[in-house]
Amino acid sequence: MIHNRTVRLRARPVGMSKRDDFEITEEPVPEPGDGQFRVRLDYVSLDPAMRGWISGGKSYVPPVAIGEVMRSYSAGIVEASNHPGFQEGDAVTGLFGVQTHAVSDGSNGVIKVDTAQAPLPRWIGGLGMPGTTAYFGLLDIGQPKPEETVVVSAASGAVGSIVGQIAKIQGCRAVGIAGGPEKCRYVVDDLGFDACVDYKAGSLAEDLKAACPNGIDVYYENVGGDILDTVLTQMNVFGRIPVCGLIAHYNNTEPAPGPKNLRSVLVNRLTMRGLIVFDFIKRYPEAAEALGRWHADGKLKMREDIRAGGVDAFPDVLNLLYTGGNLGKLILDLRD
Ligand SMILES: NC(=O)c1ccc[n+]([C@@H]2O[C@H](COP(=O)([O-])OP(=O)(O)OC[C@H]3O[C@@H](n4cnc5c(N)ncnc54)[C@H](OP(=O)(O)O)[C@@H]3O)[C@@H](O)[C@H]2O)c1
Repeated sequence: MIHNRTVRLRARPVGMSKRDDFEITEEPVPEPGDGQFRVRLDYVSLDPAMRGWISGGKSYVPPVAIGEVMRSYSAGIVEASNHPGFQEGDAVTGLFGVQTHAVSDGSNGVIKVDTAQAPLPRWIGGLGMPGTTAYFGLLDIGQPKPEETVVVSAASGAVGSIVGQIAKIQGCRAVGIAGGPEKCRYVVDDLGFDACVDYKAGSLAEDLKAACPNGIDVYYENVGGDILDTVLTQMNVFGRIPVCGLIAHYNNTEPAPGPKNLRSVLVNRLTMRGLIVFDFIKRYPEAAEALGRWHADGKLKMREDIRAGGVDAFPDVLNLLYTGGNLGKLILDLRD
């Protein structure tokens, strides 16, 4: 009998989630029925959106219910199959949840991936949902043109690292904003951005101005708060702001104050537009083709920050996202 270890939501967190907001359970895995397959999950993607998924408010997806397995993208290997499209040994990713095993009919966003092309964890990182988000957010909503300046916050992370590199591929000046000198060094030296500003150094406005001598045409927003307030003052006329994430707000217990410099949107005729990656689902193959090609050509560098500890470590590893403890795509390793 195979046992499944799962992380289930026990309570809706207030502020940053705590271990007690989750419970670890162990239960037998059902045999796959007709048209189903069983996956052994090796890696779980930790995503900032998880904090929103366990909140009760209205969002773009229903919240994870109390008692339900925590929602996540995960990657693993098919162990048994009664599904014509999936064979034993296939590597797959999908919304399988934070658990060691899942039985699926293939409908929960399951994709077969090629581990000869890239290691399994990368398919839930730069070659998976975060890379796809960067691709559509920057190219469709940001619409960068050669020689323009693109600024991205959370620049060393899963989405931001890809945004800046795609900006370079488009012939733009790519400037990152990240927390601390180590992350900024990585963004410039390893990823090839033109500059990176450490927002924790205490001189964001001056440092950003020095890094963006021609102003900012596209600001790819991952953070919100003070960083948005500062960037707004340096936007060029007809600039674009894809609003991909607002991680500085996700653990707030009170509504965040509005942007201080909204006047910039008016006087500079800026476009701010939110995006959810699911909006582009019909065009995922386009992103997969481009990301795969750039990755194979060495134009897109990717880094995974893989943490050990299995499902028991999930609550603590998740919070690294909100304290800046990760460098690269944060992933939990479920293998023993
Ligand atoms: N709209 C969509 O469909 C979609 C899809 C995927 C992701 N997203 C969003 O994209 C953003 C990045 O996600 P990711 O998966 O790539 O995460 P990530 O950047 O790999 O990790 C999160 C990073 O955010 C930064 N951060 C956390 N709290 C912060 C704060 N208060 N102020 C400034 N920076 C802070 C930290 O980096 P520093 O050390 O540099 O501060 C942290 O390492 C998130 O907002 C996420 O919600 C949106």
